[in-house]
Amino acid sequence: MNTISMPAAGQSAPETPEYVPIPLSDLRTDAVVDTQIYIKLADAFVKYREPGVPFDESVRNRLREHNHRDIYILKDDCSRFNLYLEANLQKILSDPQVDDAVKSSALYTTTVNLVREMLNNPDSVEGIKSCQQAVELAADFIVSTPQALSNLFDIISQDYYIYTHSVNVMTYTISLAMKSGYPADTELKELGLSAMLHDVGKSFIDWNITNKSGPLTPDEFQMMKLHPEYAYHSLEKTGVIGEYPLFAIRHHHEKINGRGYPFGLAGAQVDKGVRIISICDIFDALSTRRVYRDAYSGFESLKIMKDKAGSEIDERVFLEFVHLLGEVK
Ligand SMILES: [Fe+2]
Ligand SMILES: [Fe+2]
Repeated sequence: MNTISMPAAGQSAPETPEYVPIPLSDLRTDAVVDTQIYIKLADAFVKYREPGVPFDESVRNRLREHNHRDIYILKDDCSRFNLYLEANLQKILSDPQVDDAVKSSALYTTTVNLVREMLNNPDSVEGIKSCQQAVELAADFIVSTPQALSNLFDIISQDYYIYTHSVNVMTYTISLAMKSGYPADTELKELGLSAMLHDVGKSFIDWNITNKSGPLTPDEFQMMKLHPEYAYHSLEKTGVIGEYPLFAIRHHHEKINGRGYPFGLAGAQVDKGVRIISICDIFDALSTRRVYRDAYSGFESLKIMKDKAGSEIDERVFLEFVHLLGEVK
């Protein structure tokens, strides 16, 4: 087995001792009304909403207008919130009384929270198992609900965070894999899990690099390029993740022209699942807002990607992706 020196995990945003940031885009389901919500004004945390008070779209928009990207909840409330969502997800998704849009929202919020936990604790066996269960539910829901991608598209975070990006890529990957003929079975779920955990290795990289508000220096880029290997080695050690997800996560930055990393694989060495994840990964990275630039529109993102089709990314899979988005919009 290759050896790699692993830095400490959990390189997420520095948190205050008592409060945890929650992106505004996460606040979609009624579950959040159980917790006290705070906002940060200058350096102080101020109570914003009492438990039980609905958090609707107008409240979110008002906060955005005042440049709040996150609200805050108490650390203890955060784990209660996650557990509540996890425990109820299956119930919500199988309840015929619940609207598909609400199901999509519950699915999105829960999976985002699970990935956030994974980034803080990437070798947690329990965390991986929760992700596996959630991906199975996500795949079944997307396969059986014609409007699923469309609903998820409406709620997908427009702001880039590693955890929302991971869930966005998982959502696109399952939808694109279905479209390109993957049977709705274990293979599809393993591919979905690979997409959900593809960037988990970034939790081993210095937070100041992964969140830098500008271009990376060559040295920083070299550090960043280690994330597929970090993910592979930390997940492999847990012994609970299958061979295929390990393979796909390790290779998600390989390109068919051989100019990717970490191994410079080329052509058929880059398998179809990896080609699918790669396209979804690039699209989401382009179409979400960064601290240092606005989001490209879906159309602009596809235009940028078109130039890479046939060299860096698979041309046929790319066309299927264009058709998939065409059906959604
Ligand atoms: Fe990556
Ligand atoms: Fe990514």
